[in-house]
Amino acid sequence: METKVLNFGSLNLDYVYSVDHFVQEGETLSSLERNTFCGGKGLNQSVALAKAGCSVFHAGAVGKDDSSILLQMLDSAGVNREFLKFKDGPTGHAIIQKNPAGNNCILLFGGANQEILRTDIDETFSHFDKGDFLVLQNEINELSYIIEKGHEKGMKIVLNPSPMNEKIEALPLSLIDCFMLNEVEAAAITGVDAKDSEGLISALREKFPKAHVVLTLGERGSVYAFQDNVIKQGIFKVPVVDTTAAGDTFTGFFIGSLIRGESPEKALEIAAKASAIAVSRPGAAPSIPELSEVCV
Ligand code: RIB
Repeated sequence: METKVLNFGSLNLDYVYSVDHFVQEGETLSSLERNTFCGGKGLNQSVALAKAGCSVFHAGAVGKDDSSILLQMLDSAGVNREFLKFKDGPTGHAIIQKNPAGNNCILLFGGANQEILRTDIDETFSHFDKGDFLVLQNEINELSYIIEKGHEKGMKIVLNPSPMNEKIEALPLSLIDCFMLNEVEAAAITGVDAKDSEGLISALREKFPKAHVVLTLGERGSVYAFQDNVIKQGIFKVPVVDTTAAGDTFTGFFIGSLIRGESPEKALEIAAKASAIAVSRPGAAPSIPELSEVCV
């Protein structure tokens, strides 16, 4: 039977403001342009997983307001949204400043992403079984409960602890099967200096000996570690237009490729190529490539 992926995660309307520099404290700055894109770490990762060839179910919540472009994005990527709930409050959104180098600053408004009920979660999990994958980020409420449910079911749990904040420390991290994280997130979890990538990997392996770890290192590429197997992957250099969702694209294509039966080594290479394509395009979800563009 085909492995199913349940991604319980955020959906955001991304309001992207192009600026010549990020606004400073006390400053009023005119933006050069505004665009609205589909985003949210959850939605972006669902789109990437589906484009990588997986059977993906996106659970989470939107408002009854203006979420139609998010629904269309999931549909056009082939993501199943039968477990998505509609709440009375507003849909989540992100206010994103994008500078000329393609880097960003993000301000989140949780909205419906923070309105998930335990009854929504219980109903959703009744449709999943042992061996299915559960993919999570840190932009929704009830994450501990969701992790415990996934573990009870015998699902394989992938956590991208992003955005990093104090809520991550309170999660049952020993139940995670695979961590997808950057140096800042790894440093917060282990207490090791973010610049010491070797030290971060060792500390993560020691702290979570049963988990697979994928550490992304920006310009320096990425490292996969599981028990004695350590694999390194460089980046594919491209002109940068917009880095938003590069990490989400990497996560979706790495996990999606593993599920399709690729080795961790090949999955890292595919993920690095996919995220390079994503940074060469504007927006979050719309920048995520098709598998045919990545594996030519
Ligand atoms: O990872 C990028 C995403 O972070 C954006 O799409 C934004 O919505 C925030 O969730």
